[in-house]
Amino acid sequence: MELIVSEEIDSEFLEIVKPILRNKEFLKLGNYLQHQKTSRLEHSINVSYIAWKMAKNRDCDERIAAIAGLLHDFCVYDFKDQLPEGELHQAFYHPKAAAWASEEQFGIDEKVRGIILTHMFPLGPMPTCKEAWVVTCADKICASLELVHIPFALSWRQRVMIVPA
Ligand SMILES: [Fe+2]
Ligand SMILES: [Fe+2]
Repeated sequence: MELIVSEEIDSEFLEIVKPILRNKEFLKLGNYLQHQKTSRLEHSINVSYIAWKMAKNRDCDERIAAIAGLLHDFCVYDFKDQLPEGELHQAFYHPKAAAWASEEQFGIDEKVRGIILTHMFPLGPMPTCKEAWVVTCADKICASLELVHIPFALSWRQRVMIVPA
């Protein structure tokens, strides 16, 4: 899996997310559909970009928002797979799985972990910092547009193309 990134994208954003987008385990998200035609990788990049943009305009830490946005659904499995024992629903379970995977691959800090764990609010705990509110809102905006097949953010004009290996 390879990503081709258009020159239109802010280099400031790319500098922040580049180390994650080079990670082979993370790129496996391209193998899973998230919202009908959108892959989980494309969705994650969109959320990251929208969260970065929103954070920049709201006196938030845009770096944290971009990273947490990119990692919020870092789950390398099909959401239709069976849940571990004791887990009730994927909506409540997958933020924990994403936080574990992010910790394992990137050694995230507590703030990023908290943002990942609260991104499904109101299905799950309430965000506790401005960047977490930004990511949960960005996730909902992206999911809504992806579900009705509207290309936007980094899916618009093929700003990021995902090329299968
Ligand atoms: Fe999610
Ligand atoms: Fe998401």
